Amino acid sequence: MHENDEMVENNGRVVIVTGSSKGIGKDIAKELAINEYSVVMNAKNPSESSKAIDEVARETKEGKEIRISSIVGDISKEQTSKSLIGEAITKFRRIDTLINNVGISGSSKKITDLSVNDWNEVIDTNLKSAFLCTKEALEIRI
Ligand SMILES: NC(=O)c1ccc[n+]([C@@H]2O[C@H](COP(=O)([O-])OP(=O)(O)OC[C@H]3O[C@@H](n4cnc5c(N)ncnc54)[C@H](OP(=O)(O)O)[C@@H]3O)[C@@H](O)[C@H]2O)c1
Repeated sequence: MHENDEMVENNGRVVIVTGSSKGIGKDIAKELAINEYSVVMNAKNPSESSKAIDEVARETKEGKEIRISSIVGDISKEQTSKSLIGEAITKFRRIDTLINNVGISGSSKKITDLSVNDWNEVIDTNLKSAFLCTKEALEIRI
């Protein structure tokens, strides 16, 4: 998303990872931090988010500036997606990669016991979040 990509070292590259307080998303964030990317993380639970940032920050190379930020909130909500993308621009001035990692399986219920809310939560978390974040990132790119 930047004209001078070949001029930018990893520590100038900015990656956003949705759903990154645990599981695959946290491991992706950690691997990126180890490789000196700037990382913007996201999850709903504030205390788990804070623990995950601390853990990922510990992976930043000794002596290097810690370039990790996060937005806490439900990423299926438009306002959270705007805050997340805005955070990358405000803190790190650019966006190179958006990883729409977030995903849930939802309740293990028979379809006859599944409510419309159960259904919407899964669809909104897994699909709508990717639409919102991708749209916002492309609209705001610099
Ligand atoms: N694990 C597997 O074997 C596997 C296999 C194939 C594909 N996948 C896919 O890989 C992705 C990650 O899976 P995982 O197993 O690593 O998941 P996980 O361990 O359950 O972690 C999910 C992460 O997403 C966050 N999250 C959930 N709903 C959110 C929401 N509405 N807004 C913001 N954050 C939210 C959670 O934080 P909070 O707790 O704060 O909500 C957590 O940080 C998913 O898309 C999944 O479908 C996983």
